[in-house]
Amino acid sequence: MKKVAKKVLGIETSCDETAVAIVTEDKALLANLVLSQQEHALFGGVVPEIAARAHLNHIDTLVQEALHKSGLSFGDLDAVAVTAGPGLIGGVLVGVMTAKAIAAVHGMPLIAVNHLEGHALTVRLTEDVPFPYLLLLVSGGHCQLLIVEGVGKYRRLGTTLDDAAGEAFDKTAKLLGLSYPGGPAVEKMALNCDNPARALEKFPLPTPMVGKDGCDFSFSGLKTAVKRIVDKLPETIDRRDAADICHSFQHSVAMILNDRTEQAIKQYLSLHPQQKNPSLVVAGGVAANKMLRQGLEHLGKKYNIRFVAPPLDLCTDNAAMIAWAGMERLRLGMTDSLDFPVYPRWPLESLSAAS
Ligand code: KG4
Ligand code: ZN
Repeated sequence: MKKVAKKVLGIETSCDETAVAIVTEDKALLANLVLSQQEHALFGGVVPEIAARAHLNHIDTLVQEALHKSGLSFGDLDAVAVTAGPGLIGGVLVGVMTAKAIAAVHGMPLIAVNHLEGHALTVRLTEDVPFPYLLLLVSGGHCQLLIVEGVGKYRRLGTTLDDAAGEAFDKTAKLLGLSYPGGPAVEKMALNCDNPARALEKFPLPTPMVGKDGCDFSFSGLKTAVKRIVDKLPETIDRRDAADICHSFQHSVAMILNDRTEQAIKQYLSLHPQQKNPSLVVAGGVAANKMLRQGLEHLGKKYNIRFVAPPLDLCTDNAAMIAWAGMERLRLGMTDSLDFPVYPRWPLESLSAAS
């Protein structure tokens, strides 16, 4: 008899995306629905109460839609995976309560997924990347370099001492009056820069931590430097200046990420000298940025290691990554009980101790 591939339903509600997806064991994405909440645009940042209410309003419909799209019913699913943290707790609770209800009513296993583990393992949904690989995780709330040694096994090499890279993008966009979320807006505006050399000379920006030992990051000085520049400009910023500032800003972020990642590559290669297929993986929302990807690709070539990035729509928050992390856990028998708590903070390395 032909073996039927396992199917996992994934739910993601930890920030401002309400997302539901269904993946199969053989890596088919049967449904991948992402509803980006527009309610926050007015405030230039995510408002937790509004986010939680919006998740509540949409989650049931999205689950039904995902089943409908994949032609499945609850009885066809093998497990439900859900983000149990870290994130905005009201939203996380909405997702977790929904998943627990599905698990309880339909008698299927629950898998509590760490959102960061979702980002960390996404690449294995679209490519064959063996453990251990080096991961640069750059999102709105996190900026870390880790060695992914296995499911639930993470060794952190460096982290940010202050802000995350995505936060710096969002802040820069806000200062320049660009739309929210800031990352894509800054990237788009930087494309209008017709003279990169002029941009770097007119608006030089710092590159904190570059050249220092270790793999830690810092972005607050860069953010403050952008503010100082913008404060000196007229209220209505000239479009050419805005494009130049965005280019200079992206250039600095790329320098920082490249320098820190280069340090991490050296550590990774010396910790795993026998690794036959060493890989550098980038994940998280900021990984959608093309200039940053190019820099990292270059670095991969320099050290003769494979550079892999998930497709753009799987870099920003989605539920396919949660369903996939659930699948990786299900295959190893790592399921959770219905009284699993939610965690507003939940460092990835703490999973290593638990598994
Ligand atoms: O992973 P993600 O969707 O959510 C978190 O878990 O934080 O990351 C969101 C962050 C935001 O700060 C957003 O501005 C940034 O990713 N981002 C980008 C781009 N697309 C999203 N940053 C730079 N360039 C982009 N194209
Ligand atoms: Zn994320």
